[in-house]
Amino acid sequence: MSSDGTESILELAEQAGIRIRSNCRQGVCGACKKRKVAGVVRYDAEPDGLDRSEQDNGMILTCVAIPVDRVVVEA
Ligand code: FES
Repeated sequence: MSSDGTESILELAEQAGIRIRSNCRQGVCGACKKRKVAGVVRYDAEPDGLDRSEQDNGMILTCVAIPVDRVVVEA
């Protein structure tokens, strides 16, 4: 699945028929948190629902994480 640079990983997964648990879809609640195995993501704003240590351990909020290149996520 390729991104146009604006769609989140959650949106791309849903388009591919992959279900990821979500709730707020605004980077606040943490429900969509997943481990990124490979690749780089960006956020338009620092996500409230993910602290720095989680980010350092590879966790992302799929509802607001936008892939920068090829990204692999444990779903
Ligand atoms: S659905 Fe709430 S942080 Fe992603």
